[in-house]
Amino acid sequence: MPKQIKTIGILTSGGDAPGMNAAIRAVTRKAINAGLKVKGIERGYLGLLNEEIIDMEKHSVSDIIQRGGTVLGTARCSEFITEEGQAKGAAICKKHGIDGIVVIGGDGSYRGALALYHHGVATIALPGTIDLDIACTDYTIGFDTAVNTAMQAIDKVRDTSSSHERCSIIEVMGRNAGYIALWCGIANGAEDILLPEKYDYDEQKLVDNIISSRKHGKRHHIIINAEGIGHSTSMARRIEAATGIETRATILGYMQRGGSPTATDRYHASIMGAYAADLLSEGRSNRVIAYKNGTYTDFDIEEALSMQKDIPQYQYDISVALSR
Ligand code: ADP
Ligand code: F6P
Repeated sequence: MPKQIKTIGILTSGGDAPGMNAAIRAVTRKAINAGLKVKGIERGYLGLLNEEIIDMEKHSVSDIIQRGGTVLGTARCSEFITEEGQAKGAAICKKHGIDGIVVIGGDGSYRGALALYHHGVATIALPGTIDLDIACTDYTIGFDTAVNTAMQAIDKVRDTSSSHERCSIIEVMGRNAGYIALWCGIANGAEDILLPEKYDYDEQKLVDNIISSRKHGKRHHIIINAEGIGHSTSMARRIEAATGIETRATILGYMQRGGSPTATDRYHASIMGAYAADLLSEGRSNRVIAYKNGTYTDFDIEEALSMQKDIPQYQYDISVALSR
């Protein structure tokens, strides 16, 4: 017989992502409709340990669906990685009557969610990261907005790059994952794409590509470099010296994490948030919500954490084939 949940908490953790607010709204409204009480936990696990807990009503989540960031705030919290921190977090949940929790974040946040589950708090996790680097799901909240923001910025850099006949290195986010770089590489028609999962650090190849594309009459050369490779400014200096072609670096940075979410992010985040509330209402726990092969589904958190994801080779090959 599954345990009947009466009060749920909701928190956002790790890097923020556009669409998190749509998820917060959906969890809150669906849970209240099902007769549950909802508490918002501010600043992720840090706020949980500091008991920054507020009552959420339906009107608390009005006028947030279109806003970037997370109205609950987010933080990183090293204390929560310790067994003592996790036990304290679970005790605080108990003290506030929180018997179920929804965690919106990435892999790191899932580990915290798993710890809360092991301490007796029913837990559901939602994939919230612009990096798309969660193995169990084809979609993560915020990726679509971030990749569109980056694409638009790269188009703008390309205009000036062509006018001045320059080479441009544009660095996009993704400390460990090259999904934003891959998608922009294809969507922006970049000449070279450097992904942490694929790059062989052969700069001579880049130099040869630039010289060859110039010979074929190209007025620009766009290199999209993922943050995980980094060093765009020094790379630009070396490339300019080796090719004799003016080369500039642009680091897009945190602008990629902000902004009003796209319809895709609002839509998926709303469905996933409602799904999380439904699972908790049904007494389910220890689940990660995913969008896989066109359907919404859920996985055991441990199973989700053990899955591997890599840049799809076919799509990567296409990005290379279309770039020449
Ligand atoms: P993300 O959730 O985006 O992957 P982080 O890896 O920074 O971001 O994790 C967010 C937070 O999740 C951390 O600051 C920490 O509080 C918690 N966390 C990360 N790893 C663990 C772990 N192994 N055990 C418990 N909590 C963790
Ligand atoms: O949200 C994901 C991400 O943008 C990564 O690509 C990046 O490495 C990381 O967050 C940086 O976030 P912060 O500077 O907030 O730790």
